[in-house]
Amino acid sequence: MSRIGWYGLGSMGLSMATNLQRHLASKTAMNLIYSNRTMTRGDPLKVLGATPETKFENLVAQCGIIFTMVSNDSVLQHLISSAIGSGHSLREKIFVDCSTVHPETVGLTVAKLREKQASFLAAPVFGGNPIAVDGKLVFAIGGPQKATQLVKPLIQNVMGRKVIDCGEDATKASLLKIAGNIVTVNMMEAVGEAQVFAEKTGLGMGPMEELISEAFGPVAGGYSKRLTTGAYAPPLESRPGFGVSLAIKDANHAFAMAQENRVELPGLQVARENMLAARDYAGECLDSSSMYGVLRQKAGLEFWNEKSRKGGS
Ligand SMILES: NC(=O)c1ccc[n+]([C@@H]2O[C@H](COP(=O)([O-])OP(=O)(O)OC[C@H]3O[C@@H](n4cnc5c(N)ncnc54)[C@H](OP(=O)(O)O)[C@@H]3O)[C@@H](O)[C@H]2O)c1
Repeated sequence: MSRIGWYGLGSMGLSMATNLQRHLASKTAMNLIYSNRTMTRGDPLKVLGATPETKFENLVAQCGIIFTMVSNDSVLQHLISSAIGSGHSLREKIFVDCSTVHPETVGLTVAKLREKQASFLAAPVFGGNPIAVDGKLVFAIGGPQKATQLVKPLIQNVMGRKVIDCGEDATKASLLKIAGNIVTVNMMEAVGEAQVFAEKTGLGMGPMEELISEAFGPVAGGYSKRLTTGAYAPPLESRPGFGVSLAIKDANHAFAMAQENRVELPGLQVARENMLAARDYAGECLDSSSMYGVLRQKAGLEFWNEKSRKGGS
């Protein structure tokens, strides 16, 4: 088997790479090579036997399959440019990006790597950090079938519980991710609205959370817990579960595509405005569910609740 590389050890990437390293160790395969802007994030991986590599280009040179899990389109583009610019041969290498990026970015990356006889798979994920820790993410995957078949065993029952194969066109996997996040962000807004309603009417957040979890499922229940545990506004300098700026980026990608295709997304519009207002008020260290803080303010409550942090950035 080719040596496997991993770049990006944020809220999602570290847990995913940890599951992958454990899997490789269980198969007595070669250990993962990892890299990240902040290398110390990889210390738990090193303990598990993975090998640190400070430069992405050097990681690429040593690996046949390279996973990336980074914040946004420009970070991915920068990484791919540095791999191409390094002068190392990329022939027959497979790049697998799990980040949420615009389908256009995927299309451009596919073309650039094809010129170097390398393949690109878009493999974005559904599910937050606790699901990543459990190795139960849902993956969409798109790109050349030969590469997909080689990579699937590294995903299925390792990092993910389900792989949705979107076929040869990698942009379709990224499109599915953008579409899925329309549901995610709308659901966070709906749960936030219901919880503020429950608090203000005297019903209370406890029964509301029980109902949300029982009647609308664990995903909606998880969004409610982000509010009742205060995780929507975590301590400053911590890493939010799903940073508000990442969700705004995803919503912006959806709006760009909606506009091109003459589709309206009025629910997403409301949720994005509330996320922008939350970020203006409380700073960058917020979860995507922080529209709840703004909904609280609109109802005459403080942005913060008793479990959240109590001040802006
Ligand atoms: N969190 C979720 O629930 C969730 C769920 C599904 C999909 N996603 C998507 O998955 C991706 C990763 O999400 P995440 O929550 O893991 O994000 P995150 O915690 O913010 O981590 C981002 C990663 O990108 C790296 N990075 C950021 N800016 C960089 C730069 N300029 N140069 C090099 N590296 C840079 C970070 O390095 P440092 O460690 O040095 O900061 C880190 O490794 C995003 O596209 C997100 O939209 C997230």
